[in-house]
Amino acid sequence: MKETVLKKFEEIYGSAEGVNVYFAPGRVNMIGEHTDYNGGHVFPCALTIGTYAAVKKRTDRKLRFYSMNFDSLGIIESSLDDLTPSDEAGWTNYPKGVMWAFARQGMKMDCGLDIVLNGNIPNGSGLSSSASLEVLTGYYLKDLYGFQVTNIDLAKIGQYSENNFNGMNCGIMDQFASAMGKKDNAIFLDTADLSYQYAPLVLEGAKIVVTNSNVKHSLVNSEYNVRRSECEKALAELQTVVKIAGLGDLSEEEFEEYKSAIKDEVCVRRAKHAVYENQRTIRAVEALKNNDLKLFGELMNASHVSLRDDYEVSCEEIDVLVEEAWKVEGVIGSRITGGGFGGCTVSIVKDEMVEQFKEKVGAAYQERVGKTADFYVVEIGDGPQKM
Ligand code: GLA
Repeated sequence: MKETVLKKFEEIYGSAEGVNVYFAPGRVNMIGEHTDYNGGHVFPCALTIGTYAAVKKRTDRKLRFYSMNFDSLGIIESSLDDLTPSDEAGWTNYPKGVMWAFARQGMKMDCGLDIVLNGNIPNGSGLSSSASLEVLTGYYLKDLYGFQVTNIDLAKIGQYSENNFNGMNCGIMDQFASAMGKKDNAIFLDTADLSYQYAPLVLEGAKIVVTNSNVKHSLVNSEYNVRRSECEKALAELQTVVKIAGLGDLSEEEFEEYKSAIKDEVCVRRAKHAVYENQRTIRAVEALKNNDLKLFGELMNASHVSLRDDYEVSCEEIDVLVEEAWKVEGVIGSRITGGGFGGCTVSIVKDEMVEQFKEKVGAAYQERVGKTADFYVVEIGDGPQKM
């Protein structure tokens, strides 16, 4: 990949002399979905796939972007004096948003950049190609301009830019997983205070299989923001009867005791998911520590049911993939992963059953939905790097 972006850089900008290459990973979340904006826990891991950038400073204030994933768009030009979101800017709104967020914190770039990108995260798969692009941008800015930021700052800046420049009200999970990734480890993150622990995720005799539904429903951003506000409404009503900072502060028992304070039935279900999912995540990490992969898998399955029925962020295609996965012998757990409304599922599958899993789930998906699913046996990788 390093050679590929360097070659492209030379081809389109004339020379690859003095060019640096950087990488930031995508992520898959094992459990703890839609808890990160509710002060709950998440358990994602960084992948070995992600986004690469070849970057070189310019002497003027121009910004030139080129993505090998969108060759037909050619070079997209902008300038440090135009860090505002626009439809024409397309995917460059992500790196520009990060540059804007740095500048807002007083970290101003004194010259522009020539950039070539190449990503190997399948487009729109819900494996956080945008968070990897944000973290990647922050990482090369830090390196090239000497900005004093930690990797956790890079996660925060990425989230801030996505919320305030790109209008997606996301939590911090994706950026944190990309910025803080560690090979063979998942990250047990408490989003209430950003305290975290690494948990080894070397599965004896099993693999993590990500299945791409190859569908992405247009609801993603709008429905995501609706879920967030439903949770906020439920929280405000609960706060009239119990002192909590977020839904993640409640145990299941406490939730059952106080839930009548929530007026709207839909909001009750949304809040229930947030509370129970948080407790499931804590329990799942405990199970992993105790080498109880069976329990871990059961909690993954329960997570899916809750996201499907109470949180309503699944869709027919994803439900088919999960149902079919559950039928296959040797599947320890399977669930939707990421924001929802399409994208991917994550499954833990015994080594010797991986091929059968792909065949059976793939064939059933084709038959029931009329679409082709893609399968990736993923590896857990490190955070951002200079190559
Ligand atoms: C998206 C968001 C994350 C998180 C997940 C759901 O990936 O970017 O912050 O909320 O959805 O768990």
